[in-house]
Amino acid sequence: MTGVAAIESSAGKRTTSVFDDVQFRQWQQLLEARTGLRFTEARRAQLESGLKQRMAAAGVDDFQAYYDWVIAGGLHGETEWQTLIDYLTVQETRFFRDPRAMELVGEYLHAQWHRGTEPTQIWSVGCATGEEAYSLAMLAAELNRKAPRQRAFAVTGSDISAPAIHKARLGRYNRRKLEPVPMALQRRYFDYADDQATVRQSLAEHLCFNRLNVLELDDAPLTGMNVIYCQNLLIYFRRWRRRDLVNALVERLSPGGLLVLGPGELPGFEHPDLIQIGSRNCLAWLRKYGKESTE
Ligand SMILES: C[S@@+](CC[C@H](N)C(=O)[O-])C[C@H]1O[C@@H](n2cnc3c(N)ncnc32)[C@H](O)[C@@H]1O
Repeated sequence: MTGVAAIESSAGKRTTSVFDDVQFRQWQQLLEARTGLRFTEARRAQLESGLKQRMAAAGVDDFQAYYDWVIAGGLHGETEWQTLIDYLTVQETRFFRDPRAMELVGEYLHAQWHRGTEPTQIWSVGCATGEEAYSLAMLAAELNRKAPRQRAFAVTGSDISAPAIHKARLGRYNRRKLEPVPMALQRRYFDYADDQATVRQSLAEHLCFNRLNVLELDDAPLTGMNVIYCQNLLIYFRRWRRRDLVNALVERLSPGGLLVLGPGELPGFEHPDLIQIGSRNCLAWLRKYGKESTE
């Protein structure tokens, strides 16, 4: 159904072109139920603005008609929903955004590879446009470069936003975005054309990107991960949902695997299979090998 048809089909129903409390609440509920994302009162203006932008692009000016279109499902409703999500998610990210956490992953991989654990599966959960996943891949590739023998590793990036995943797959960034990447790594892992930098195939071949809603983890065949890196996604969820999601991530971590969250994203979290490591500035755990030890 097109935007115009959606308006016509909603004839007779309550319509409004004003984002009133009723509209706010129903969009709030829909988004939280489907994605876990909370639009609190403080984020009301952001929600309204995102909806308006998408509705203008789709040629709809009535919030209720647009809501009806999106929840109607089917091919058109589902496609529109996917597009809308891209307007409403915060996709801010940077290469090596959290240097302490990246350092921890580097040390972990070094230790694991020293003891012969491979291949190594790394997962960037909520990877946005891919910078985090490529940063993790560069860490592993750099360790490999200095090692006497090459270790096998793969990095999976997942995100709810299809356009973000498309950009991640392209691996093409404005040159300015590479500022946090040390110059030696820029030279080794990127090709330049004008103001664009593209990830080289030698690095890109270690990565794969998939659209995945973390509320639908059961549909994803992602298990046996050695590193799960999930930063700046949980902050948008309620605390009970953060706990549920992290519990589900633990199930996908291999024994001895490393789980990294953003600082302050789930302080005080405990799990019988995990041992907390890291410092105040870095929230990380190792999955136990057996009941008692991490060996
Ligand atoms: C602020 S970005 C964080 C990017 C990266 N992890 C970082 O720390 O730089 C948050 C990402 O989470 C994604 N996201 C939000 N809700 C999601 C969900 N339910 N499932 C999967 N990804 C989600 C958004 O699309 C966005 O790209």
